[in-house]
Amino acid sequence: MTSPAVTCAADDSLAVAAQAMQGAETGSVVVTDDGKVVGILTERDLLRAAAAAGEPGLETVRLWMTARPDVLGPDERVDAAWASLTSHHYRHLPVVEGDRCIGVVSLRDLMGVARIRPAAETSGDVPAGLEGVVVAETTIGDVRGQQGFYHYRQYSAVELAETRSLEDVWSLLFRGELPDADAAASFAAEVRRRRAMPAGLSTLLPALARRGAPLDVLRTAVSLLGAELGWRPTHDIGADELADEAVGLCAVVPTILAAAYRLRQGEEPVEPHPDLGAAANYLYMLTGEEPSAPHARAIEQYMILTIDHGFNASTFTARVVTSTGADLAAAIVAAIGALSGPLHGGAPSRALDMLDAIGTPERADAYVRRALDNGERIMGFGHRVYKTDDPRSLLLRGVAEELGGPLVAFSQSVERTTVDVLAELKPGRHLYTNVEFYAGVVMHTCGIPREMFTPTFAAGRVIGWSTHVMEQASHNRLIRPAARYVGPPPPQPVPPAA
Ligand SMILES: CC(C)(COP(=O)(O)OP(=O)(O)OC[C@H]1O[C@@H](n2cnc3c(N)ncnc32)[C@H](O)[C@@H]1OP(=O)(O)O)[C@@H](O)C(=O)NCCC(=O)NCCS
Repeated sequence: MTSPAVTCAADDSLAVAAQAMQGAETGSVVVTDDGKVVGILTERDLLRAAAAAGEPGLETVRLWMTARPDVLGPDERVDAAWASLTSHHYRHLPVVEGDRCIGVVSLRDLMGVARIRPAAETSGDVPAGLEGVVVAETTIGDVRGQQGFYHYRQYSAVELAETRSLEDVWSLLFRGELPDADAAASFAAEVRRRRAMPAGLSTLLPALARRGAPLDVLRTAVSLLGAELGWRPTHDIGADELADEAVGLCAVVPTILAAAYRLRQGEEPVEPHPDLGAAANYLYMLTGEEPSAPHARAIEQYMILTIDHGFNASTFTARVVTSTGADLAAAIVAAIGALSGPLHGGAPSRALDMLDAIGTPERADAYVRRALDNGERIMGFGHRVYKTDDPRSLLLRGVAEELGGPLVAFSQSVERTTVDVLAELKPGRHLYTNVEFYAGVVMHTCGIPREMFTPTFAAGRVIGWSTHVMEQASHNRLIRPAARYVGPPPPQPVPPAA
């Protein structure tokens, strides 16, 4: 609060009250009688009086003040003050102890507590990496790190992964609601129909696949796909045309990835299987064998869990490119590029590499201590947003347990040891497994080769990226931030040419 409060008496003139406000540079004056609060007079009241063409030297405060105003006690929490100010549209509240006025809480005081400053002062002053900066409004979902919770269009992502198919969640993201039985069947049939690569792309793919890793091949292939199918700038097409392109894209991405992998291994691509769901078909096209139901379901659950996760780097990239009005292919190519960086994709294979390096459960303790002594990070642990259990990791641990096998038991033992050692050597940091730790275990157990871990993530995440492209395009504004210049002061004279 601001203390002491600026006060006047009810019988003072408006001119006296206005001078008191002006002198103290405040927007209100508390009206007291023998120290007790009897009213409050604000700038708004002065405006009303001026509009009524009164005479400020003659009119009394009593006539224009708010009598018996709401007050706060000195021990009230800041959020109570905030609630009272915002719900009543007040800007000032007197603070009263016993029956004496001891100060005023104003919106300006609360902005100080919240470290909110006027926009002009804060522009160019955002945290490095835009951490925590809100850059858009979305109805697709959000991540609540403190609660260990995230959702897609109001539905817990974990619950969706437990109870729904990938196609149902895909439909939820694209169409805005969970499909009923008929809509689910027709959506699933449509995406099955659209899994095959167009002829031009499948002819070029062998040459591409010999030259790069599957994610790099996907990046180039999506570019070709857009050209071959004649995708037009999002700026020039309506929502229906863009949604149709997006369904076709997401249906064919797993086919491209599986074919790119097989061609790189010197094997023929496997045609999509018309009777299998999206995740099972992906495993089938990758390995050439129909997967068991538990393996297909495990990968389906992994893909549902990772379909979308806030404004991560690749999702934001897709939205920035869309904001220029570019076509869907351009946005997705850019997103794949962002995902390819080791700080974004890539941790599941690193977590598995670490398990290999540890080798046996009894070596875990020494391995983790040595790594921490050397200032290294333990792969698959810690998260920027989650400071409690990562909900994706909890579900994937359960999925891994159901799959069973020696790697699962070993990884659980390493998890327990690592959490204990981290708690001992990094107390208070709240380091637990993140999605990547058990993702690697689950994918490996289901027969996905390590180099396909990040591509498999992309096979599901392309649905999230496309959803963001559609949302951005639907109410677009060019994303164009500013940078603060920190070089030598301009203008410098241009040196004469030699
Ligand atoms: C994901 C990650 C980058 C988030 O990090 P962050 O929120 O920026 O956390 P910070 O870098 O601020 O770290 C906070 C503290 O926890 C420690 N810490 C965080 N993750 C750690 C990990 N995996 N192993 C060991 N220590 C870790 C940091 O060393 C730091 O300790 P300090 O206070 O002594 O300096 C980080 O946890 C990490 O590198 N994890 C390993 C890589 C990984 O699994 N990536 C996949 C993420 S889904």
